[in-house]
Amino acid sequence: MKKIPVIMDCDPGHDDALALILAFASDKLDVKAVTVTGGNQTLAKTLRNAKRILSYIGKRPPLGAGADKPMFRELETAPEVHGESGLDGPSLPETDYREEPIPAVDLLRKTILESPEPITLIPTGPLTNIGILLTAYPEVKQNIARISLMGGSILAGGNWTSAAEFNILVDPEAADIVYTSGIPITMCGLDVTHRAMILANETETLRKLGGKIPVLAAELIDYFSKYDTSLGFSGAPLHDPCAVAWLIKPELFTTRDFYVEIETKGKHTTGMTMADLRFWTKAKPNVTVCLDLDREGFIRLLMDACDSYPK
Ligand code: RIB
Ligand code: CA
Repeated sequence: MKKIPVIMDCDPGHDDALALILAFASDKLDVKAVTVTGGNQTLAKTLRNAKRILSYIGKRPPLGAGADKPMFRELETAPEVHGESGLDGPSLPETDYREEPIPAVDLLRKTILESPEPITLIPTGPLTNIGILLTAYPEVKQNIARISLMGGSILAGGNWTSAAEFNILVDPEAADIVYTSGIPITMCGLDVTHRAMILANETETLRKLGGKIPVLAAELIDYFSKYDTSLGFSGAPLHDPCAVAWLIKPELFTTRDFYVEIETKGKHTTGMTMADLRFWTKAKPNVTVCLDLDREGFIRLLMDACDSYPK
């Protein structure tokens, strides 16, 4: 079975960390590079977190340092969700990553253009790096197979505002560039990620698997679930791993194709991913939207991935 060559673009971030663990464990994916953006925390913090996570799971992909702010706006971070470090909770050792990171857009362009197979991008943070890449080097589109992203929502409303999900809201102009690029998009928005919930008993099962990575994953979820359970969720919605899981096991997901556009101007709606829900619309769909999933199957996939690492 040929592996899918992918690049992870992330803002770790607890659920980004789980997405990295899942991606590197899969025999379906070949992670060619990891690029980092500001988002959950500042770029300096998300880059430090990416290095610590990659060191801890024993992976050494080419690492790209990306945008420290959105294309046309100031950066908004989420310390209330991910803490001051962006990865509060687990005590991860400092990294032994000595390589200086490469500018993310250069690494993205080089990796994409040099790949013999079209690359799939997996953005799990604000889309700034991808927006800059497609603007500066539109020729890369010819060798991008698909973008499987975590972001937005079409029926579930927002999480950062009533209309907008955090990743899209932080850089709506970059998202607009991505959604109008013509590149096939799979969107794992809040419609599906709010159903990709891990429950407390499942986190305990994960922890009891024992070993470095299952225990780390459980500790990431312990911290990450504090914010969502304080809002009234019954567990922790595992947003970012969905964008990876869809590539590994698409049969876990229920999807529909829609024409989706990004609001960049609305006083109340900036950052909204607006799907054309009219059954008579003539608009050509540009996005495969994940609407539901086999939650238990998703949790099992994540647990098996964590358990596959050396103990
Ligand atoms: O809205 C959820 C998204 O925002 C996730 O990617 C999480 O990591 C944060 O970046
Ligand atoms: Ca993220």
